[in-house]
Amino acid sequence: MEQLNWKCLPFGYIKTDYNVRCRYRDGKWGDLEVSSSEYIDVHIAATGLHYGQEAFEGMKAYMGRDGKVRVFRWDENAKRMILSAGGVKMTPVPEELFREAVFKVINLNKKFVPPYGSGANLYIRPLLFGSGAEVGVKPATEYTFLVFVTPVGPYFREGISPVNMMICRDVDRAAPLGTGIFKVGGNYAASLRALVKAKELGYSSTIFLDAREKKYIDECGPANFFGIKDNTYITPKSESILNSITNKSLIEVAGSLGIRAERRRVPVEELSSFTEAGACGTAAVISPIGKIVDPDKNMIYEYCKDGKPGEVTMKLYNKLVGIQNGDVEDEFGWMTVVE
Ligand SMILES: Cc1ncc(COP(=O)(O)O)c(C=O)c1O
Repeated sequence: MEQLNWKCLPFGYIKTDYNVRCRYRDGKWGDLEVSSSEYIDVHIAATGLHYGQEAFEGMKAYMGRDGKVRVFRWDENAKRMILSAGGVKMTPVPEELFREAVFKVINLNKKFVPPYGSGANLYIRPLLFGSGAEVGVKPATEYTFLVFVTPVGPYFREGISPVNMMICRDVDRAAPLGTGIFKVGGNYAASLRALVKAKELGYSSTIFLDAREKKYIDECGPANFFGIKDNTYITPKSESILNSITNKSLIEVAGSLGIRAERRRVPVEELSSFTEAGACGTAAVISPIGKIVDPDKNMIYEYCKDGKPGEVTMKLYNKLVGIQNGDVEDEFGWMTVVE
């Protein structure tokens, strides 16, 4: 393995030694196989390719100061993948198979877990797709489940420095009764026009509004949104966003720090009353937002004017990342050591 520069890793794909795969055929899951190939043989009529019958997950393993590798809330990812599978009518991956695959692939690639203190982690990407051939629009009868890992740095390269975002009104990521709550590829394809435009204009990401009324904040590209005011963590409730495991955890972390938390609809105008704002997710961790621009309304909302993240954001960040790295007591029982 060529020496990786752990401190400068992008959020991107780097080849590791092994991945694991499993097929669902004739009504049952087969054995988990280990592969060193980065490729899969896919039927030209697979429903995953044609009709978007696919779902994925994103989670991380962290190297602790004590040399132990820990995974954050893998059971929540397993449950969400079952929910997503149901959302596009796929056969779900049983939680036990998910667990076995995730821990096996980490163990096989332990040398790729970035060192403690580097700011990088091992990203774990479970994927499920319809691999059976169909030409009519219907669910496949065969599925492939695979998990690969890749070492990554934070998604927003700025790390814990503030990022700027743009409100997008001309693209909807997901419809109110659509697939927004599922982690399926179609939602990401639908978000690309807006994301690419935001990047071209110099923003780190786009903020999507609710598709029905365009009145409320939905989420920040591939991360959930939160705002802070009066020692309260406020995050959108919406029928079309991915329920972030990081966000759900931050609500509990907030409670443990004496910070109130509210999950409710967040009108766009409320952005002017927040003293801090941020994006949260497995990849984003907590990315403080410096500025939100709403070009259609000619509005700019500014947070952390001195270029530094706010106090409440930092308290939440330090506790969550401390738990993940094994530096802070895991009072919630979220971490599983990879044996
Ligand atoms: C659209 C979207 N929202 C939010 C999140 C954050 O969710 P989590 O904290 O479970 O990673 C992600 C991805 O990870 C995402 O893709």
